[in-house]
Amino acid sequence: MLEDLETILVTEQEIQERVEVLGQEISEAYADVDEITVIAIINGALLFTADLIRHISIPVRFDCMRVSSYREDTKPVQEPEIIDMLRLNLEDQHVLIIDDILDTGHTCARVIDAIKRLKPATVRFGALLEKEGRREVDVVSDFTGFSIPDQFVVGYGLDFAERYRQLPCIGVLKPELQNPPSWI
Ligand code: IMP
Ligand code: MG
Repeated sequence: MLEDLETILVTEQEIQERVEVLGQEISEAYADVDEITVIAIINGALLFTADLIRHISIPVRFDCMRVSSYREDTKPVQEPEIIDMLRLNLEDQHVLIIDDILDTGHTCARVIDAIKRLKPATVRFGALLEKEGRREVDVVSDFTGFSIPDQFVVGYGLDFAERYRQLPCIGVLKPELQNPPSWI
């Protein structure tokens, strides 16, 4: 599968090192609380969150939310839809939302809005990747792995048509593979 990439933007080793440091940063940021609730936005944040929570030293409660940003025609929709909501009670909890990538910010804004209705004590957001110059809504990431240029990337949880999530690195697909007719 690696041969399908035109370039590798972040190597497996760079990811693993950064994720460990991020885990430490998160543990320090929450040093004065007893417990945090980590919410992974699936499917994209699955691999990242699985690795990240193993580097968080304070107790973690864990749940997932499924958010759809795309209609059938693969064009992003302005208002992402929450397809599967979490089950945990978040009242008075310290919530850390984790996504794979902060792009336009619509997904992040939608999820934060939904979480805040559940009356948590605090809400913060972290993402493995952040695309430069793409924000359409005013959201910021409290914990970010890497800033990348505005290119469509796959790997380490990020997909193209549900493929390539298994790659251990982050890369840009070869242009001829970005729209294979058989995948649409
Ligand atoms: P936003 O709502 O525009 O911030 O987009 C966030 C979501 O879009 C992410 O959770 C990803 O699922 C998806 N996304 C944005 N850019 C990429 C990319 O380069 N590769 C794969 N998925 C992406
Ligand atoms: Mg996603």
